[in-house]
Amino acid sequence: MGSKNMGALCMVAMVFVLLNIGLCNGGKTSPYVRKLYASDDLPKDTFPSPPGFNAPEQVHITQGDYDGRGVIISWVTPVRKHPDVVSYWAAGAEGKHKHKHTVHSVITTYKYYNYNSGYIHHATIKGLEYDTKYFYEIGQGNSARQFHFTTPPKIGPDVPYTFGVIGDLGQTFDSYETLKHYMANPKAQAMLFVGDLSYADDHPNHDNERWDEWGRFVEKSTAYQPWIWAAGNHELDFAPQIEENVPFKPYLHRYYTPYQESQSTSPLWYSIRRASAHIIVLSSYSAFAKYTPQYTWLEKELSKVNRDETPWLIVLLHSPWYNSNSYHYMEGEAMRVTFEPWFVQHKVDLVFAGHVHSYERSERISNVKYNITNGVSTPVKDPSAPVYITIGDGGNIEGLASGFVDPQPSYSAYREASFGHAILEIKNSTHAHYTWHRNDDNEAVAADSVWLFNRHTYPNEEHN
Ligand SMILES: [Fe+2]
Repeated sequence: MGSKNMGALCMVAMVFVLLNIGLCNGGKTSPYVRKLYASDDLPKDTFPSPPGFNAPEQVHITQGDYDGRGVIISWVTPVRKHPDVVSYWAAGAEGKHKHKHTVHSVITTYKYYNYNSGYIHHATIKGLEYDTKYFYEIGQGNSARQFHFTTPPKIGPDVPYTFGVIGDLGQTFDSYETLKHYMANPKAQAMLFVGDLSYADDHPNHDNERWDEWGRFVEKSTAYQPWIWAAGNHELDFAPQIEENVPFKPYLHRYYTPYQESQSTSPLWYSIRRASAHIIVLSSYSAFAKYTPQYTWLEKELSKVNRDETPWLIVLLHSPWYNSNSYHYMEGEAMRVTFEPWFVQHKVDLVFAGHVHSYERSERISNVKYNITNGVSTPVKDPSAPVYITIGDGGNIEGLASGFVDPQPSYSAYREASFGHAILEIKNSTHAHYTWHRNDDNEAVAADSVWLFNRHTYPNEEHN
């Protein structure tokens, strides 16, 4: 080949490389390929009721106040109201000095189509010591069951704390793997759950026994560490065809949240502070337009955030605002348009969403200029914007969302159609290490990982 031809070839190659860079302006689309068929739910009674007559089951805990000294302990007794008392004591106070406290539950029941719930108990404990392990016991005799939890450290800007993150879990073989992998990681101290719990509504007449089954399935984690709940569309259980017209009925009976502690008027949106984090939970399926209760509450709550005490500002919601998957594409757009300017103004660090059954992490971007008058509709890099993480990859009955749009948008940093969970390790007031773990790997393997810099204390650009 002559030198002239070589030169031409080089030019073509150069143009190709430049074109390629131009087209692939997004982040990484993982080449990892996972099976695409829907997973089946585990057979009923895979997680049977515990032994003993009317033994308490489906035990779960969540934070019970604003600052982490409270816990709501919930359980179900299938046949009778009793036991309706939980006793608890601080670890280390064993033997004759063991001082047991007791608290009574609030009991609720509900009917759904042809299903009658068991007795659903919620016992709220407040005024616990920070950073202390507590044992608690529900029931007596041969049906008594004992568990434990550890309260978070006192609120403070440099308090390290580690959260797990799971969404759209369901109760399939894949769900089982997700929870198993999460629990194999000893680091996480509390769970941020971004909605879609049991997927009971995918069964005929929303078979509410699937809600009970799910409660027993996750108990091995939910009884020992608080799961912070956000509601998804599968919590709606709105089915007028079977005369079930009350949205969120099973969910609201089963999963209490400390909403009044943050002056919310609904259990579906609320806020808690834990260690160095201020966590705001929103409801994608409740009204959020201007003047609605959720809108006015969020506006006020954001103004209350004290970044000098809790530098990490984290939002949980179900339907993602930035999603480059064809599945549920732009469903979160109305909420994004409504609230994104506030998130940028208040420098939210992280937004976790679910709904899309795959994994995706965004760059720090905003699209606050997008409105119908100026026509600017491309998200741009914005150091004051959150990182958006879509983690609806718990592994539910509906299977994987593998249809990513092509090419990968510039706002998308990493995406993968796979199942897994995430770990958010807050190290201090400036740094947090975030990792995402796919189910097919060992827990120690992080398929995606980033160092996150706090937007209030250290708003430098992250280089990941
Ligand atoms: Fe969903």
